[in-house]
Amino acid sequence: MSNMENQKSHAPLTTNASTMKDFSPEFCDIGILDNGKTIPDFIDDKINELGLKDSEEPFFVASLDSLYMKHVRWVTKLPRVTPFYAVKCNSTPAVLKMLRALGTGFDCASKGEIKLALSLGVTPDKIIYAHTIKPPSHIKYACTHGVNMMTFDSEDELQKISLNHAKAKLVLRIAVDDSKSLTRLNFKFGAGLETVAKLLERAKELSLEVIGVSFHVGNRCCDSLTFKQAIADARQAFDIANMMGFKLSVLDIGGGYFGREESLDKFNECSEVINAALEECFPPDSGVEVIAEPGRYYVESSFTLVMSITGKKVITDDVDEQGDDVGKKCNKRMMYYMNDGVYGNLNASLDPNFKFEPHLKRAVKDSEQRYKTTVWGPTCDSMDKICDTCYLPELHIGDWLILNNMGAYSTSLSTDFNGFEKAHIYSVVAAELWHTLNLSQTSNNN
Ligand SMILES: Cc1ncc(COP(=O)(O)O)c(C=O)c1O
Repeated sequence: MSNMENQKSHAPLTTNASTMKDFSPEFCDIGILDNGKTIPDFIDDKINELGLKDSEEPFFVASLDSLYMKHVRWVTKLPRVTPFYAVKCNSTPAVLKMLRALGTGFDCASKGEIKLALSLGVTPDKIIYAHTIKPPSHIKYACTHGVNMMTFDSEDELQKISLNHAKAKLVLRIAVDDSKSLTRLNFKFGAGLETVAKLLERAKELSLEVIGVSFHVGNRCCDSLTFKQAIADARQAFDIANMMGFKLSVLDIGGGYFGREESLDKFNECSEVINAALEECFPPDSGVEVIAEPGRYYVESSFTLVMSITGKKVITDDVDEQGDDVGKKCNKRMMYYMNDGVYGNLNASLDPNFKFEPHLKRAVKDSEQRYKTTVWGPTCDSMDKICDTCYLPELHIGDWLILNNMGAYSTSLSTDFNGFEKAHIYSVVAAELWHTLNLSQTSNNN
């Protein structure tokens, strides 16, 4: 990892002994990359292994080094904001264990996610139940397991919470402008500022404790100034609450951050805007604790999906007279059928913003003919289309394709529709980081 030097310079990122015991390879299926072995080497080995077993199943390689780097970046750029990782984005145990070891909190959306987090040793005080609409039995589960912090945005939810978890510590989710984000959330969730007083009044009537305000600007927020306005809106909600006698102490600035390495500038820009807005609206001496619920930010670039071609059709009867993307006339069009698709880990390909940009295992010459290509997933469903039109060199059954940046909302949305098994996830960590973390453990014990 080119950033390993950077990683080492962050002394605060230590871990504790019991955490690392649970996290060691015997307890968790993690491969240690030693002797300079890289992720591409690991992928080559796995492909060879599968070949020997006559198998061509898709698989993920999850880089814990990348996850670690993301965390280093987060605490460096947003030192006042404690991340509560959004489990829904990718609930792979190794990911949760690594983040727990690094000291993040967790945003859980249901009893199932709370159960998973607790089973991996996360303590209840490190969990926010951040779904504003919760089934009563899930609220009860949170109550009996000591998970107290939870969000709400309606009077009916308050009523439900008062019946099932009267000691909950509530965070009011407000609706903010999400129009600059690639996926909007506020049609479904969040209370308008004009309803804040009424909701707080109702909480008071029910003797419920409200401790803070949250918002979510929508997934993949393209305009960092959205955070500035959202934080100002949250300040207004705090002021209303203060006037009504509440003492709020938590601001939760939600998710919505990009996760690819090439989006680093965007993240840096967002953090600057967030830091300045916090300084203005919630300065450190306000005593307000600031948390966030990043999902995609942490995991998107950490997962690489490796998939293979299991079927191919060459079409010659409706040739594209326009030629390929480099202007050459071509006399055939290709269709490939992959071993992973929309119902597996490529649900994102239904999103109009998705770009199918695979790397091929074999070297491709610039001079090679590109063909107009449609790429399908493995199921019998015609919706299972990964890419309608792209231009690729000719590929063959058995060829492997590699997709980077596949960690967000991929494995957590995958199904076994049509009987195709879910992709295996191989989590790997560079030996150097592994030892660094163990060293941190030792120094913590001293
Ligand atoms: C309540 C809540 N928090 C956090 C997240 C994570 O968002 P992101 O992956 O955009 O950071 C989501 C995702 O939709 C969410 O609904």
